[in-house]
Order: sequence, then C-alpha cells, then structure tokens
Amino acid sequence: MGSDKLKTDLKRWYKDAIIYQLHVRTFHDANGDGVGDFQGLTAKLDYIVSLGVNTLWLMPFFKSPGDDDGYDVTDFKCIDARYGSFEDFREFICAAHERGLRIIIELVLNHTSDDHPWFQRARRATPGSSERDFYVWSEDDQKFSDARVIFTDSENSNWTWDPIANAHYWHRFYEHQPDLNYRNPDVLRSILDVMHFWLDFGVDGFRLDAVPYLMERDGTPSESLPETHEILRTIRQSICGRDADIVLLAEANQPSKKVMEYFGDGDECQMAFHFPLMPQLFMAVAKGLRQPIVSIVERTKHILESCQWAIFLRNHDELSLEMVTRKEREEMWSAYAPNEEARINLGIRRRLAPLMDNDRGRIELMHALLLSLQGSPVLYYGDEIGMGDNIKLEDRHGVRTPMQWSDRQNAGFSSRHSHSLTLPIIDRGAHSYEAVNVRAQEEAENSLLNWIRQAISIRTANECFSHGSCRFQETENEAVLSYIRESGNNRVLCMFNLSSEWQEAEILAVRESGKTSSLLGKLDPVKICDSVHKVRLKPYQYVWLALS
Ligand code: BGC
Repeated sequence: MGSDKLKTDLKRWYKDAIIYQLHVRTFHDANGDGVGDFQGLTAKLDYIVSLGVNTLWLMPFFKSPGDDDGYDVTDFKCIDARYGSFEDFREFICAAHERGLRIIIELVLNHTSDDHPWFQRARRATPGSSERDFYVWSEDDQKFSDARVIFTDSENSNWTWDPIANAHYWHRFYEHQPDLNYRNPDVLRSILDVMHFWLDFGVDGFRLDAVPYLMERDGTPSESLPETHEILRTIRQSICGRDADIVLLAEANQPSKKVMEYFGDGDECQMAFHFPLMPQLFMAVAKGLRQPIVSIVERTKHILESCQWAIFLRNHDELSLEMVTRKEREEMWSAYAPNEEARINLGIRRRLAPLMDNDRGRIELMHALLLSLQGSPVLYYGDEIGMGDNIKLEDRHGVRTPMQWSDRQNAGFSSRHSHSLTLPIIDRGAHSYEAVNVRAQEEAENSLLNWIRQAISIRTANECFSHGSCRFQETENEAVLSYIRESGNNRVLCMFNLSSEWQEAEILAVRESGKTSSLLGKLDPVKICDSVHKVRLKPYQYVWLALS
C-alpha cells in the first residue's frame, strides 16, 4: 500500500471513505501548458487533505483522443502525455499515500475509442477470429433491439456501420466508443492485465465505468445481465486474490434492485454509487417533502455488512434522470432546469451551487444530508467552494471547468494565456473566479469551504455516520426529515427542514434520550412538557444533535 499510515488502518477502509472526485485535466497545471497535470495535483494534496477527505477518485487519465474527455481510451497502459509521466504518477501516489489518502482510478472497461489498436486490428481481422471478436459485430443493425440508447441527444442507434469490417459494430455510448466483447475470454484477460498493471503502481481501487453494459443478449434490455455479474465475480477474485483491500466501485445507473445486485453475495463490488438516491435528494428539496428520501433509503438500506453505498450530489456528468418516472423527470426539469439549454440527454448539466440558486442555506442543507446519510460521501471538486458552471460549453464540459484557486490570473489554475486553457475559467457573474475561489474562502472564517471542513470533521469524529444504523423518526410534519444514526454509544439525531417555509416539529428522540448537544447547526428546543420537545425550524434549516 506504500505507506505506514495506511497499513495501520483497519480493513474495509471504504466504509470510512470520504471521497473527493477530480479531473487531473482541470485541477492544477504545474508546467504552464494550460492543462492540469499530476505535478499540479501533487502540489495541491495538502489542500485536499485539509478538507478532511481520505480518498481520491481520479477521472480517466489514460491515453485518449479526448472525444469523451478520456472515457475513450486508446492505450490502457499509457498516461495521457499532457498529464505527465509514469514518474509523475508514481510520485503522486506516494505523496498521496504518505498523507493517508487512498486512490481510486477510473477503469473504462465497457468500451474503447475507435482509435484503439484493438479496434483497428479487429475491423481488419478475419470474421470469427479472436482479434475480430474483441468487439461486437453484426451484419444487420437489428440485434439486441431491446437495448435503449443512452446518449439520446447525439445517437439514434447502438449500431454503426464500419466500411472496413463490412459489418455493424455495437456501442452503448458515442459512435466512436465501440463496446468490448466480454463473451471473448481474451477481452477479460486483457482487462485484468490492465488492472494488475495499475495495481503495481499502488492504486487502491477502480471505479468500474458503465458496468451494466458489459454483456448484451437478444430478447433482453442488455443491462445488468447475469453474465455481466459473472464477469464481475471473476474480476473480484483476480483482484482480491492479490489484495483483499482493493476496492471495486460500480457505476451502475440502474433501478435500486438492480444496483444492489452489484454487491453480489459480497463477491462482486464492495461499493456502488447510489444512483437511485441522488435525484430523490433534489426532489425532496424541490417539493419540500421528506417522502422521496425516506422511501428510497428504506428500500436500499439492507446491504451486506462488507458493502457500502457511495452517495453523491453531483459529478462530472449530467444530473441523471434516467431512472425516475416521466412525471418526476418533468418536475425536476421544471424545478432545476427551466432553461432547456441546461438539459442534456435525460438529465441536467449544472453544478450544485447554481442548482440551489446559489443559496448558502440550501447548499449547506444538501451537504448536511450527503454527510449524514448511510454511505460514503463523494464530493465533486469545486462544489466545496460553490463553483458554478458554463452551460454554453458543449456536452458536459460546463460542469468540468478549471478549479478556482484564487482571484489571480486564470484563477490560479495555470500560468498559460487564458485563450489556450484546456477549458475556459468561469470569469463572469456570481460564480466568477474573482468572487468564488479557494484563497478568499480560506481567509473568510464563515465561508462555505470552512463550513464543509467543519462538517466533514464532525462526520469523521462520529463513527455512527460511517458504520451505524439509520432510523427514521415519524414526525407529523412531512416537510421535516429526521433520523437517528447509531453505532454503539454514538448516537446522532439529524433533522432537516426541506422546505422554504418555517416548520414546527417534535424532536421525538429526546423522549428516549434526555440530553442533546448540537454538533452541526443550531437549534433551540422548546420544552413543552417533560416528554415533548418541539422545535421551530427556519427554511432549509438542518441540525445534527448528539444524543447521550
Ligand atoms: C461516464 C461518462 C462517460 C460514459 C461513457 C459514463 O458513465 O461517467 O462521463 O461519457 O460513461 O464512457
């Protein structure tokens, strides 16, 4: 694992993980070429540690033409030269581990770029050969016709004709991203080889990108098939046979029952993103009602002790509304993306702060939920300072703009001329780098950044958040969400007013507990009688109370 600090940690470190997601490309540019790099990231590790997080998830940094921001790989064993060398990567891993940070890297295992030598070889290879069968081919474009198209704004079929192969090839995403064919054992062998290659550098885990689509079969939607789970079991055996602490994190944007299948019987992924919960958090705040959160948490809370949800608010993609009902999608669009330009595919391409109308109270409320619900929280870089987005940029680039470090040139991201940056800095409006940046918020005691640091440190100090149970309280007022996190003697009551109005609710837990003290947020309980304590909560108010 590379560092004594990590060796002393207990197993199942991912249960205590607090993850920070970033893109090397847009985090910090050390060599002044306008693109973020590993040296720049290494230089910012102390900042990352200062947030209180303990795990990094790096978006793809392998060699790629960049037509899907690195999710289109041309060499799985090569670092994109703009981000640095193997030496830079090694130094980064070492520096991160010395600081107690674990590293999860992206593994785009479902597909490659069509420039990948495997695809170039396949389209020219003899039909029926293993080289050809690295990808999925068909004479017509009617096979697997029950599979939906995912990138609905840009693709209208999962098949594309290849004049060199004289056949159609299968792709679940962009046409330039042909799907690998996991029915060919040589494909899995090659991907395992890639995983062991990166494990040799000391990485601690992989985010398995787009994992439900590994296998396809006629007469099915070709998502989350049993044969895909078989592949995952083989991957888990191979990886954990080497080190049981290596984490597999599933990116499976599926209905709740299907996502839970990625934990297997404890023999597939240890972690899975909680896609079903994410839109319901936003829904609950839009409606000012707790029900959307309560019902999804109740449905998904029983997972194996060895497994853990990765819960999140925003990431580098659109806020996905693929798995909600049509009615819910309409409600979400009208609440959060009335401007159609903010929509992409079946989602919303906005960052957290603009989604919350830049309202500090609501941004804190969302984080207070994220940091207290069951699962390991994942924070998206820049959200800790309330960064904005640029919906004028194409695809999902608007939520991937460079980190805003200061009010200096290029927000302190790069010394390059501003016209030559990998993506433009946000330089106007309420979210401009002059208004929103790390340096200013480090200096302001009451900044969002300092509030987040404090909230994370409280979470870390209370084991109930990472290991404890979660019990909802049935308060009469439906705008108030209240639950108790509990592990041994460590009990915390979390209460949230999800609405834009003042609300009154009883703190039921005080009946059982007696004394409370405030950990996060302030509350003045009004004692009605010995057994009834009521509170008045202002709009979007939250509180975490320690129960003794
Ligand atoms: C990633 C996207 C990417 C897609 C295709 C996703 O699930 O998160 O950013 O475009 O996979 O690789």
